Amino acid sequence: MRNLDQLQTTIKDLIHDGRGILAIDESAPTIAKRFKAIGVESTEENRRAYRSLLLTTPGLGEYIGGAIFFEETLSQRTPAGIPLPAIAWEQRIVPGVKVDKGKIPLALCPGDQITEGLDGLAQRLQTYRDQGARFAKWREVYTITDQNPSSFGLEANADALARYAAICQEEGLVPIVEPEVLMDGRHNIERCAEVTEAVLHSVFAALLRHHVALELMLLKTNMVLPGTEQPKARPDVIATATHTVLTRAVPAAVPSINFLSGGQEPEESTANLNAINLHRDRCPWNLSISFGRALQQPALRAWQGKSDNGAATQQALLKRARLNSLAMRGAYLPDMER
Ligand code: 13P
Repeated sequence: MRNLDQLQTTIKDLIHDGRGILAIDESAPTIAKRFKAIGVESTEENRRAYRSLLLTTPGLGEYIGGAIFFEETLSQRTPAGIPLPAIAWEQRIVPGVKVDKGKIPLALCPGDQITEGLDGLAQRLQTYRDQGARFAKWREVYTITDQNPSSFGLEANADALARYAAICQEEGLVPIVEPEVLMDGRHNIERCAEVTEAVLHSVFAALLRHHVALELMLLKTNMVLPGTEQPKARPDVIATATHTVLTRAVPAAVPSINFLSGGQEPEESTANLNAINLHRDRCPWNLSISFGRALQQPALRAWQGKSDNGAATQQALLKRARLNSLAMRGAYLPDMER
C-alpha cells in the first residue's frame, strides 16, 4: 500500500496506554446548540477561542493522544499565531479531522439514515493533510426501533463507511470508522446488543470487500446500553454486554476501539469505561475513548464564553481526561470525582 509508513507512524502515535482521543469536531449547527446552552453566540471567533483554549490545556497530552478537528479549526490559529494543528502536536496530540458532511434520511428506507460526503473526498483529504491532519473520522448513525435499522440500511451505511476508509488509507490518513447506534429510545440492552452486533458485522464485511487494512484503522463505536427511556444499567452489566458484542464482531487485527460517549453523563461514561477495562486482558484491542460531550461538558459550563474563565475551563477538561485515563486502566473510582 502506498503511504504505508505514514499510516503505521500515525497508528503508533495515536495509540498509547492511558491516552484517548478528544472529539472537538462539532459541525456548525451542533456547536451552535452547545454554545446556546451557555448563552454564547457561535461566531468563528468564539469557536476559535474555545477550541484553542482546550488544545492549549497544560498537561493535556499526558491523557490525550489525538484530537478530531472540525474542518474550520484546521486553519485557525492561537492568539500568538500558531496554527491549532501545530499547537496540538506540541503536546504530541495527533490532529485529525471529521470529513463526513452529516446525515440525511436514507431514501425509501423509512427510519434509516445515511451520511453524505464521499464525492470529492480524496481531494479534500489532500487539503486537510496539507493543513496538518493525519487521521480522519466518518460517522454513520443508526436509530433503533422495532423495524430499524433495516437490512438495506445496514448495508448502505457499511458501504459508505468502507468507501471512506479505503479512500483515507489510499491518501495516507488513518480512518476512524464510526458506526454509532443511538441511545435514544425505549429499547432494552439486549436489543442494543443485537443491533450493535449486526451493525459491526455489516461494517467489517464491507471493510473486507473494500480492501481496507484493519491494522491501519481505528473503530469508534457505542457502548452497549439500554435506551434512554429505560432505567440505567449497572457498569458491570454494560461491560459484559459490550465485551460479548465486540468479541463476536470486531477482528483482532483492529488495534484500538475508541468509544463515543453518545449522550451519557461524564461520570457515567467514565464508570462504564472503567468496568469495560477491568477485563481488558481478555481483549485483543486497546480499549480507549473518543469522547466529545463527556470530555467537554464540564469545560463548556466552566467557560461561559469568558476569557477570565480560561483556567477553570482547562482544569475541567484536564480532570475528565485524567479520570478517563485511569478508567482505561480499570483504576478509576467514583470517589475520585470529588
Ligand atoms: P460524543 O462523545 O459526544 O458522542 O461525540 C463523539 C463524536 O465524535 C460523535 O461523532
